[in-house]
Amino acid sequence: MNKRSVRDLNVGGKRVLVRVDFNVPIKDCEVTDDTRIRRALPTIRYLLEKGARPVLISHLGRPKGEPNPRYAMDPVARRLEELLGAPVLKLDAVVGPEVEEVFKSWDVEGGVVLLENSRFYPGETKNDPDFAQQLSALADLYVDDAFGAAHRAHATTVGVAEHLPAAAGLLMEDEIDYLDKVLRDPERPFVAILGGAKVSDKVGVIESLLSVADFLLIGGAMCFTFFKAQGYEVGKSLVEDEYMEEARRLIDEAGERLVLPVDIVVAERSEEDAPSQTVRVEEIPENVMGLDVGPETVERFGEHIRKARTVFWNGPMGVFEVDAFAKGTEGVARAVAESEGTSIVGGGDSVAAVTKLGLENEMSHISTGGGASLEYIEGKELPGIAVLPNKEDA
Ligand code: 3PG
Repeated sequence: MNKRSVRDLNVGGKRVLVRVDFNVPIKDCEVTDDTRIRRALPTIRYLLEKGARPVLISHLGRPKGEPNPRYAMDPVARRLEELLGAPVLKLDAVVGPEVEEVFKSWDVEGGVVLLENSRFYPGETKNDPDFAQQLSALADLYVDDAFGAAHRAHATTVGVAEHLPAAAGLLMEDEIDYLDKVLRDPERPFVAILGGAKVSDKVGVIESLLSVADFLLIGGAMCFTFFKAQGYEVGKSLVEDEYMEEARRLIDEAGERLVLPVDIVVAERSEEDAPSQTVRVEEIPENVMGLDVGPETVERFGEHIRKARTVFWNGPMGVFEVDAFAKGTEGVARAVAESEGTSIVGGGDSVAAVTKLGLENEMSHISTGGGASLEYIEGKELPGIAVLPNKEDA
């Protein structure tokens, strides 16, 4: 990574505003998946070891620029304190007198301050210059460790970085290094696997991966647009007719490097008790919809994946939240775990599948960014990364 790193900053004794992505699922006031909190710990611990005073800030959910108790950071603060094993002082504001008062005395020596949800302020998503200025007055330095939010040009991801000496955190570095390796210098064979519902969401990613991968395996509902483009009947499966031309073009351009399913699990509805059957892709009955890839597809995809030296996977192979249609996604997750090369998994659903199967430790890298990792792979410049200075400018 050629961005300035937190390791390049002299942080001792300094107040450091750290943008983290603590946008985590919460149910009944408890964090139900703390992965993003755990992944921010190395940067926080590094700062504490160096004698810095970390002030953490994140968004949570999508409150519309005003306080909303449903999206308050308190459950996150509790979980962070347990994981960090050091005091976490959670404030009910981001800027203003309450925050200034706490900063005057800083009685959380050895611990961290966690500010309230940045999206309680309308200036956050608008990247309002005054709000960014107020944020910059909170600290001496700015560290961005929120890869998951780097595709958002907001005050805490972009505006504030223009006012303070800025650097990437350790998680941000890790994310960039792994995704850059995939894009620029993958060990071959490089096999990419894409799933999910819509071609429209992923055209740019498909093109980008086809320009670098040896094989692109496509599963999930988006494969039905490809099948229809090939002239197959797909019953009631999800199809984006307006993307058929695009799909045809991609099939022609990619040739054998684009690998589509050969069998599909179909049912009348995507419910656990719906009677299902596995059919060849060219024989999908008209009254059913495709809900998962079949066992022969898993086998074929697995052969490619197991031979790969680099694997990138984003998106489920079927409706994996329903057990009856989860086998394709689980089979792919197992094959990725078995591959001996570098394996990178991104996107909420594929990561959830990996976690459900307890395979996290078998992967080289699990990205904390869903949308951000896809935009990165697509070759887009992420504003939260672009704003950070390069090493040579440090
Ligand atoms: C995410 O969960 O993908 C990031 O935290 C970004 O959240 P957002 O889509 O609400 O901006």
